[in-house]
Amino acid sequence: MQANKKDWLRDLVIYQVYPRSFMDSNGDGIGDLNGVRQKLPYLQELGVNALWLSPFFCSPGDDNGYDISDYQNIQPEFGTMEDCEALIRECHQRGMRILFDLVVNHTSDEHPWFLESSSRDNGKSDYYIWRDPVDGHEPTNWASVFGGSAWEYVPARGQYYFHLFSRKQPDLNWRCPDVKKAIFSMMAWWAQKGVDGFRVDAVSHYSKPEVFVDSTLPPMPDGYRPAFDQICNKPETHAIVHAMNREIFTPYNLVTVGEVACETDQDLQNYALSQREEFDMAIPFVPPQMEVGLNPVELLRHRFESQYEALKDGGWWALFLSNHDKPRQVSSLGDEGTYWEPSAKALALFLHGLPGTPFVYEGEELGMTNAYFSSIDDYRDLDSHNVYRSLLLSGKTPEEALHGVWQVSRDHARTPMQWTSGNQAGFTTGTPWIRVNENASRINAEQEQKDPLSVLHFYKKLIALRRREPLLKEGTLEFIDTPYPKQLIAYRRQKGGRSLLFIANLSDKACPVPFPLPDKEPLLTSWEREQSSRPAGQLRPYEAILWEE
Ligand code: NOJ
Ligand code: CA
Repeated sequence: MQANKKDWLRDLVIYQVYPRSFMDSNGDGIGDLNGVRQKLPYLQELGVNALWLSPFFCSPGDDNGYDISDYQNIQPEFGTMEDCEALIRECHQRGMRILFDLVVNHTSDEHPWFLESSSRDNGKSDYYIWRDPVDGHEPTNWASVFGGSAWEYVPARGQYYFHLFSRKQPDLNWRCPDVKKAIFSMMAWWAQKGVDGFRVDAVSHYSKPEVFVDSTLPPMPDGYRPAFDQICNKPETHAIVHAMNREIFTPYNLVTVGEVACETDQDLQNYALSQREEFDMAIPFVPPQMEVGLNPVELLRHRFESQYEALKDGGWWALFLSNHDKPRQVSSLGDEGTYWEPSAKALALFLHGLPGTPFVYEGEELGMTNAYFSSIDDYRDLDSHNVYRSLLLSGKTPEEALHGVWQVSRDHARTPMQWTSGNQAGFTTGTPWIRVNENASRINAEQEQKDPLSVLHFYKKLIALRRREPLLKEGTLEFIDTPYPKQLIAYRRQKGGRSLLFIANLSDKACPVPFPLPDKEPLLTSWEREQSSRPAGQLRPYEAILWEE
């Protein structure tokens, strides 16, 4: 896997595995690395040529592995270092790259560095963000992303530490040269083991102010105030990423995807234009709360058009609709009911027709949907519980609070992968760590494998089309205005006198077609199952079509 990434980066289709929920190989109810190894033939047949695995390193699991207590060992429930090395090797044997998740904005509070840092007088005392109490309380009024104060008091040290995420995720102090040294050497160590790249977690917040001041943003229901504006995308953060690039990413030929909180196009450019020498691609993080209730067509057009414009001169795009932090795309942007299948296909066709690197989140290729648990006790994600608590605090009834969780829960994406219609969806022979979605008997890989018109086969066709159609990789992108901006989305891809046209009706009502469509066989259509031809001048609900013009 030595060839320079410039030669293959733009050919990647990346599949995100959330190891805990993908495949359990030993019946303990928790997905594991050997489960991923078992399913490599499935992934290869799907056509993806790279995997990104969410964290499986040693961790107490407060945030399902995004709280790491040892970066260079495997959490036993996920397997062993031998299993991990075998996975890297087997991916390479199958011509697939493998990316790991690099979570270095914070560690776990059970990381030995933090345990040492908690008493002032040792070599690690400066590894985290420690501040004295102010008038006997927290240094500032800042809220943690997961609720409550962003500060936690440690009596042994007589100081507070800062945690942007949970109390068990203390933020590292990137001003400390030893932190940088330790993290960079860990990254090099994985690269030497053959890892092909990193998805880099929560990048935007590496740099913290030397002097913390109270936030003036509106308070959360618990009284603490968000303070993103004071720690987002600071020049020192870019300096750290640039150093990562010069010292590790480039020398080790790593492909990198930064998870960034972008307030402006300029932020995105700063992380993902190649001349900046930071990341190859960026995943802009948008909290699901900000997208609930928006019209899907307007949202998609706005998001992908502005990203395209921001990066078209010297950048490259990470294309995704789903990941482990978002509700399932069919549920939030498509239709879970009558038009489940065409809507799953229409969203896929929209995304894979765009310029950039498509990401497929596990189960998306089956059209997996949200799982609406009827009790808060069935939710496992700490953030879902925080959302619930916060809604109760703001005066909602338990039922209303549960409905609030249904809208934004990260657990929608974390229910077990639906492999078969059998017991526990074929994910485990034991009791799964989180409930299987009730629709597993209808939506599962086994059944979809047998049906050439399934969502799964549609993804195979899409990925295969991307391999043989250079226009999808290289063509320019232009969105087309229509008189139905809440229903229709359309764009054209062009290069060297050839062009592709995409149009979709992303609504559950038929929509008139506002301009003449090519009178040819489409390359792909989301209504492929329907034998009768399209009514003249109309697009049926969730009908999406791609032609060569
Ligand atoms: C972003 C990750 O995707 C999310 O799952 C996690 O909770 C936070 N960063 C903190 O690491
Ligand atoms: Ca297991």
